[in-house]
Amino acid sequence: MRAVDLIQKKREGEELSTEEIKWLIESYVAGTVPDYQMSAFAMAVYFKGMTMRETRDLTMTMVGTGEQIDLSAIAGIKTDKHSTGGVGDKVTLILAPLVASFGVPVAKMSGRGLGHTGGTLDKLEAIKGFQVERNQEDFIKQVQEIGVSVIGQSDKLVKADKMLYALRDVTATVDIIPLIASSVMSKKIAAGADRILLDVTVGDGAFMKTIDDAVKLSETMVALGNEVSRKTIAVITDMSQPLGQAIGNRLEVLEALQIMQGQGRTDVTHFICELAQIMLRLAGVECSLDVIHEHLVSGETLKKFEAMVSAQGGNLEDLYRPSAAKVITEIRAEAEGYIEALPALEFGLFAMRLGAGRAVKSDNLDYETGIVFEKKIGDSVQVGELVAKVYSEEVLETKLLTEFQKNVKIGRTQVTPKEIIRIIS
Ligand code: URA
Repeated sequence: MRAVDLIQKKREGEELSTEEIKWLIESYVAGTVPDYQMSAFAMAVYFKGMTMRETRDLTMTMVGTGEQIDLSAIAGIKTDKHSTGGVGDKVTLILAPLVASFGVPVAKMSGRGLGHTGGTLDKLEAIKGFQVERNQEDFIKQVQEIGVSVIGQSDKLVKADKMLYALRDVTATVDIIPLIASSVMSKKIAAGADRILLDVTVGDGAFMKTIDDAVKLSETMVALGNEVSRKTIAVITDMSQPLGQAIGNRLEVLEALQIMQGQGRTDVTHFICELAQIMLRLAGVECSLDVIHEHLVSGETLKKFEAMVSAQGGNLEDLYRPSAAKVITEIRAEAEGYIEALPALEFGLFAMRLGAGRAVKSDNLDYETGIVFEKKIGDSVQVGELVAKVYSEEVLETKLLTEFQKNVKIGRTQVTPKEIIRIIS
């Protein structure tokens, strides 16, 4: 076979055979198909798409390019959760120990943030001493002992995705459904959980900008999971405004702690309870939202979270120290009315520029910087009332302050924010 023929075939909108997809991906991983041909192929897929059969073949070939984690030593139904990316998304920090507090084991591999989106590993590393690199034996042992562990994805998993994702990132071929679906699901399948909850974000801060695209991506990933007997459910969730109050690594850990102490905003607390109910149901545990809420705010979840932090070398005392950010700027409302929009993309990029995120993969993070919103969409505001606090290393330039204010949209009528929009199973 020749890569050029397969690129041309896809460019003409034809369907590749199972053997052709397998040959192309395996040759790329082996280094006999170069980056420039794989880039051309990704662009051809971007314009011509892939059938469900091709997407499944791509996914399973990718799974085969690395190790697969065997979680069978852990008793019970193992659940995993994945978000397609968002701003202020600290859900895993809370959901993993919450689900584990019901005796359902959570063995989770997470990723890092890039651009305006954050990553769970970066948030966990904002906890002094927290180890995200664990060998498989320790990972499994921890889940056996305390029921939960969140670690970084092993380098040995899905080699093809690592190579392909890096290439897509610099060739404008990330946001295409078959490539996202195969990237996410190859990692989830290789990571070994029996049941998978997918949080497919939609809105200006997400890869999927429309509900239609989010539905298509969800249906594709759910089908991929179910075809290999990993029962998968997707929820489509709103990412038109940041999730919860905080954006920024340490600030998000602090918000997670507040939620686990019953002091979180009602909307985000309720949202996490809904996700937990779906994840528990996937594992065969039926629970009312009231019972789940009680587990979340009564200290049960916090106890699990603290056990996880301690088992992974994190310093629990350090979680409760004051912020070390040098400057805290208060942003106050310039008009009276209701918060109408807080564009997630704009604020994600703003936080990134403060050092809370990475513009390129090699950037170092500043764990202390970020934003905490006191008001969210639908909240009423008076002139001069506190809308947000910005944590930074330097005094904010006037240009940045003006940009922040411009993105806080205040209107005369109250808007109702949406969270879970649809469940696909
Ligand atoms: N997240 C992934 O893991 N892969 C993609 O392609 C997009 C988002």
